[in-house]
Amino acid sequence: MATHCCNLPFSMRPRQSHSDLESDMKYFQRSAILTSILLFSAALAPAVAEQSSGPSTNVAWTIETLNLLRSGDPERGAMLNTKLECVTCHGDNGVSTNDTWPSLSGQTAGYTFKVLRDYREHKLSGTQRGELMAYIVAEMSDQDMADIASYYAQYTLPPARIASVQEAAETLDLLGDPTRLIPPCSVCHGNKGQGSFPDFPALAGQSPEFLMRSMMDFKAGFRGNDVYSRMRLIAGTLTEEEIESLADYFAGKGIAVAQE
Ligand code: HEC
Ligand code: HEC
Repeated sequence: MATHCCNLPFSMRPRQSHSDLESDMKYFQRSAILTSILLFSAALAPAVAEQSSGPSTNVAWTIETLNLLRSGDPERGAMLNTKLECVTCHGDNGVSTNDTWPSLSGQTAGYTFKVLRDYREHKLSGTQRGELMAYIVAEMSDQDMADIASYYAQYTLPPARIASVQEAAETLDLLGDPTRLIPPCSVCHGNKGQGSFPDFPALAGQSPEFLMRSMMDFKAGFRGNDVYSRMRLIAGTLTEEEIESLADYFAGKGIAVAQE
């Protein structure tokens, strides 16, 4: 079993401590924008404590939203990706270079759009770095989000992170576990972990620690932006060992998808 997931006690904490964030940010101190985020995050602590109530998301898949998504301009998205410094943390073309931050390359446009809206509207403020992303995207318009979502969606999924055989995880992906009413992951996330329309995220080749953290956040209820609690219910039933194995399994799936 891989060890990279196991030193993640913070995955059970509702939000980042300033020291976690500071050590991440050391890499980025050359950037004025990112340094100001670091300062801002210290002032943010009391606000973070207030969980937003109300619906899990403000995104509804209406004709207007779908038309907005269709109007996404990848060239303008590329410009925003550079201008807003997304590239600093999410890597060139959205392929993250470390195991903890998510890749965005090849992500379905609908999911990227939805999660950016959710960050901006503080629907993910209970997660470890949700308020960091909320601050980063605070000034982005819906059109900006549609443009940048179409930019990442035009690339292939990231390459596989780790080579690992995870039989229990593969069974959960392909068959689920009817005895515990767990549907196969592939029903929603695609038979290759490539995601599907409108808001099912791609998992293949994703950063393993991020996958682990997301599932633990759903399980603990820190992340509640999933419509109809679809992921909260599933993650709540999975054991921590299964979650770790699933994180390794999907992180190892990338190349097969990317080569097609
Ligand atoms: C300082 C580093 C940093 C910068 C700059 C940054 N991000 Fe992020 N981003 C993160 C982290 C960390 C997460 C994971 C948050 C979590 O664990 O809840 C994240 C999450 C995301 C996600 C959700 C991924 C998923 O699969 O759920 C999207 C989409 C995203 N960022 C887009 C952007 C865009 C667009 C920009 C530029 C406008 C940007 N990010 C700038 C660090 C950064
Ligand atoms: C009924 C449909 C459904 C099934 C089955 C399902 N998921 Fe999900 N999952 C979702 C949705 C929808 C989201 C996005 C939630 C949101 O809006 O942020 C999600 C999000 C996730 C995320 C967070 C990804 C990210 O980029 O932030 C992970 C990890 C995940 N699912 C893993 C799994 C695994 C592993 C299984 C199988 C054990 C599974 N899911 C089964 C619907 C499903």
